[in-house]
Amino acid sequence: MKIDTIMHHFQYVDEEPYCEEVPLSKVALEAGTPFYLYSHATLRQHFRAFDEAFVHIKHLTCFSMKSNSNLAVLRLFALEGGGVDIVSGGELYRALKAGINPAKTVYSGVGKQVEDLEYALKSDIFMFNVESTQELLKLNEVAGRLGKKARIAIRVNPDVDPKTHPYISTGLKENKFGIDINDAPEQYVMAAGLENLKISGVSCHIGSQLTEVAPFVDALAKLKKLIGRLEESGIHIDCLNLGGGLGITYDNEEPPHPREYAEAIKQELGLADLTLILEPGRVITANAGILVTKVIYTKSTSEKTFFIVDAAMNDLMRPSLYNSYHGIQPVKVLGREKVKADIVGPICESADFFAKAREIEAFEPGELMAIMSAGAYGFSMSSSYNSRPRACEVMVKKDHFYTIRARETFEDLVQGEVVPDFMEDA
Ligand code: LLP
Repeated sequence: MKIDTIMHHFQYVDEEPYCEEVPLSKVALEAGTPFYLYSHATLRQHFRAFDEAFVHIKHLTCFSMKSNSNLAVLRLFALEGGGVDIVSGGELYRALKAGINPAKTVYSGVGKQVEDLEYALKSDIFMFNVESTQELLKLNEVAGRLGKKARIAIRVNPDVDPKTHPYISTGLKENKFGIDINDAPEQYVMAAGLENLKISGVSCHIGSQLTEVAPFVDALAKLKKLIGRLEESGIHIDCLNLGGGLGITYDNEEPPHPREYAEAIKQELGLADLTLILEPGRVITANAGILVTKVIYTKSTSEKTFFIVDAAMNDLMRPSLYNSYHGIQPVKVLGREKVKADIVGPICESADFFAKAREIEAFEPGELMAIMSAGAYGFSMSSSYNSRPRACEVMVKKDHFYTIRARETFEDLVQGEVVPDFMEDA
């Protein structure tokens, strides 16, 4: 198993894969398949590796909970003193339920609705990352109505190429996010005239799964320049939010370690008296979780070999959506010859695959396989498409494991659905 740039606790012991001190096969026996498995020690270690990298500067680590929003995962970060980056009222609800401090909560998103703004204001969150003129006006209006002052940053679009997949690139002129950095000074002047807003920050998020530091440094340089200009016009900024985006090793990428990332940021930041806000998601959770699935059937055509497994694109949609690579490991290493196979789920779509033409051990029906690096944007992006109950989530701590979200049932699938009486009328 590949060693990540930051260590994780999924290792083989005597050819049997373990998460911390628990063999995967043991969890499978009790929890059934498919299931998500997270390592408590890895989550904590990754959070600390990131947060401690910034130890000598004023900063706030706001975990990007869209990557993994399970309450137990959030609780762990709350206990580590972390905050969160939220993008919806639902995320705020989860964060509060997990005991995240609202004073460490920042809120991004291009389409925040009035109810969400109200909820966030009433919860006294730390800051809104505002993404349009209309949102500035709306937030001012809602805050006024509630007798609150909303602390804001304007999320700017710095037009920096993050060199990542186009679907997860957010800081280019063509993307829907933020306000063009060239238009930002004018927007800040307008915001300064709105009495229910308190200007505090500048924010950006240029994309996700970045494997180089240069785009972050370029964005930071642009933000610093903007802050200088704002100060000249009498607008004081005390927080700089660089967003998330630090990449991980899925296959053979070599992203910077959080330490290198932090060093580069610190250097560019210099002596600026600013609180840095960071919104890491993937770098903390991705390699702290796996998806374990069972082979149902194998079949070979004249063209191909397929391993049909009981997880599907509804459980982990990254391969279908971004054509992304996930390592796939056998749960019993039998040292068999390798075959080239497509690993696919039972869903009625050709996009339902985890890997294509992968050189892999010749699995047999009934065997387990581990789909690696699934702790970020795995369960959180899952659905019940094809009326498949969503998988359960399990957390391991040392030699124990705990179900942190039950497998959905058929009843859960129809929860809230109503067949109106009129349909029975003649
Ligand atoms: N902050 C903001 C404003 C964001 O939009 C995001 C991610 C993050 C922070 C966290 O980025 P991270 O550190 O996780 O890269 N579903 C895609 C990723 C979408 C990311 C969306 N925004 C995937 O599975 O690759």
